[in-house]
Amino acid sequence: MSAVKRIAVLTGGGDAPGLNAVIRAVVKSACNAGLEVVGLEDSFDGLLDPSRTRPLTPRDVTGIIRLGGTILGTTNHGDPFAYPAEVAGGKVDYSDRVVETFHQMRLDALVAIGGDGTLGIAHRFFLKGIPVVGVPKTIDNDIFGTTTCFGFDTAVSFAADAIDRLHTTAEAHKRVMVVEVMGRYAGWIALHAGVAGGADVILMPEIPFDIDAAAAHISHRDALGAKFSIVVVAEGATPLGGSRVLQEAAKAGHVERLGGIGVQVAEALAVKTGKDTRSVVLGHLQRGGAPTAFDRVLATRLGGKAVELLQRGVFGKMVANHPPDIVPVPLADVVGRTRTVPLDYDLLTTARAIGISFGER
Ligand code: F6P
Repeated sequence: MSAVKRIAVLTGGGDAPGLNAVIRAVVKSACNAGLEVVGLEDSFDGLLDPSRTRPLTPRDVTGIIRLGGTILGTTNHGDPFAYPAEVAGGKVDYSDRVVETFHQMRLDALVAIGGDGTLGIAHRFFLKGIPVVGVPKTIDNDIFGTTTCFGFDTAVSFAADAIDRLHTTAEAHKRVMVVEVMGRYAGWIALHAGVAGGADVILMPEIPFDIDAAAAHISHRDALGAKFSIVVVAEGATPLGGSRVLQEAAKAGHVERLGGIGVQVAEALAVKTGKDTRSVVLGHLQRGGAPTAFDRVLATRLGGKAVELLQRGVFGKMVANHPPDIVPVPLADVVGRTRTVPLDYDLLTTARAIGISFGER
């Protein structure tokens, strides 16, 4: 058993439904085991300024399992190894200050809940001597080393519901409806929501698409009498030989902001099929609101396992979903890698078999 008595917890990067469920599980299981828990506000910013920390007890987390967002706040620019110019007045390495604050606060271990960026920072602090356990988070479901991230199920459920709604209006007007969903590097949301919503065309980052092939599929449906079509496109999808559509280029401390591929696909399909076409961007609606029961349970399991590892003195790991178990995997094996949809995934094969086009030539 380790001598861990006082732990900190933070949430970093984009939010995902289920973050509060992880925090709740961490706080309840740690406090019930006699540990003290400190909540850090806005990711690692909470370790730059002790006034942005607060003790967390089971009372503080009562009732939050059903809430979206994160009670601790989060930020996309909080890399203490490279603070962005507009925040710090220059690119500044604050990492030593974080380590000092961690020790000043008499913390023994840190639970970092976040995506690849946050887990990467957590790993660097582990190498600087902070005992860390990571909890993977992203609605995109693309963190390496775990099969499912909490938030994904909520995002897919929301997107599938949206596609259901678009179906009725598409059919009434005999239109093509293009739905842009999140998925920066991976098409997990597009594929799962598309299949669940009965889409006709799915465009995703793993399969660069030929717009003529997608248009031909829609025209073929038209000729057979199905006068409407639903196209689901991931924000990170690219045409063959083309590049991702950006809303904003990358700048210090921020990755590029994607968005706009849905409009481009809709415009091209309108020209190529001659059909009335509309596009919808689901955007951050996919990240908001209450987590599904599945995500609440997965998040609870991950939070509980993180505390179990800390108590056993197992650090530098990420808790990963490997059904039927939650297992520790080394952060070193995970960070900087992306889990895209494998091209031999059975759902891709089945989707093709049931007549969904991926815009392949
Ligand atoms: O990583 C999750 C994600 O939802 C991506 O799909 C999307 O590109 C990104 O976050 C957008 O995040 P934000 O608007 O917070 O920059």
